[in-house]
Amino acid sequence: MRSVGMLDLQTEYDLFRDDIRAAVESVLESQRFIGGPAIVELEDTLRERVGVGSAIAVSSGTDALLCAMMAMEIGAGDEVILPAFTFFATAGTVTRLGATPVFVDIDERTFNVDAREVERAVTNKTKAIIAVHLFGQCADMDAIHAVALGHGLSVIEDMAQAIDATVGGRRAGTLGRVACCSFYPTKNLGGFGEGGMILTDDKSLADVARRLRNHGESQRYLHDRVGGNFRLDTMKAAILLVKLAKLEAFTKRRRKNAAAYDRLLEHSDVVIPHVPSGQKPVYHQYSILCDARDELMAYLKDHGVGSGIYYPIGLHLQPCFASLGYKAGSLPVTERTCSRILSLPCHPMLSDSDVEYVASCVCAFYDNVSGATSILGTAAKAAGAK
Ligand SMILES: Cc1ncc(COP(=O)(O)O)c(C=O)c1O
Repeated sequence: MRSVGMLDLQTEYDLFRDDIRAAVESVLESQRFIGGPAIVELEDTLRERVGVGSAIAVSSGTDALLCAMMAMEIGAGDEVILPAFTFFATAGTVTRLGATPVFVDIDERTFNVDAREVERAVTNKTKAIIAVHLFGQCADMDAIHAVALGHGLSVIEDMAQAIDATVGGRRAGTLGRVACCSFYPTKNLGGFGEGGMILTDDKSLADVARRLRNHGESQRYLHDRVGGNFRLDTMKAAILLVKLAKLEAFTKRRRKNAAAYDRLLEHSDVVIPHVPSGQKPVYHQYSILCDARDELMAYLKDHGVGSGIYYPIGLHLQPCFASLGYKAGSLPVTERTCSRILSLPCHPMLSDSDVEYVASCVCAFYDNVSGATSILGTAAKAAGAK
């Protein structure tokens, strides 16, 4: 049976094998595993690519968020507004700093935060808004900035999934006070292990974040503030530099895959991703909304096609945030999306025919009238539909 997975890191590695081995070898020969030229080169390359004044390589996307918010002195008594529909780290880092995450609903069409809900959530304790560029498409930054400006708030970009995405010709990473990127292996620029980057035009924020990355050390063994060990390993930086060479081509391929899905699924029973004008997403995920989602997922699996649910539970309903008082129904768009979303394979190693095969399986599932009618009927009944 044909097999089309959500990822194909092995084939990707085959494209880079010799260069990656040479880069690793050179770090091994240097015996310098922390700091050094590869870290500086990676920071400089991303700083220039994104178009910001400072880039600080850190140990993960999570630590980028943590370190950036520490540098902004977000802490106890502060509230940070963020979408409930995102990866856990966006909220977990807020809580770890002693601040309170304030979850808001999303726009059902883009899966990104709804700026009107952000406005409603602002209080006199609000310190910042985290705009997540989910699935590789930028949040509605003009609307978010209008809210932020009106209330004197900072905007943090969570661009873990959105390296190279643009909106109105402006790049993710340049759209807020500070931006946080991830190099987790499955990301568009995926490393060999954990990794992340803080990007900002705010020089003083960058200086503080750079010190916090290294236990808040301002001079050798002199600590102005308590930081952490948020350093990126040199070996990982050297590998990321190799992988950067193909990022543009990979993004192009992701966009080609997405355009093919758009065409093949446009008139199907699923809702394809909405791309507002001016947006150029990088399709970290290609996510559809569908009825009978779990049945579709099982059908795809039976036909050798991988798929993923990002995310099955809104963060406001996670047990660890129960004390914040959200209930089922508090954020209806997020909750509805969690029950209907499905991401299809979109990685850069797919061929045209892989994409056609996946789309044909999706269509076949719904075209299978007897099976789909009963499945959809059951799903509709379960959802309380007429
Ligand atoms: C939206 C979002 N924010 C933050 C993170 C955290 O990044 P990392 O896994 O590198 O810590 C991720 C990645 O997993 C993510 O997808």
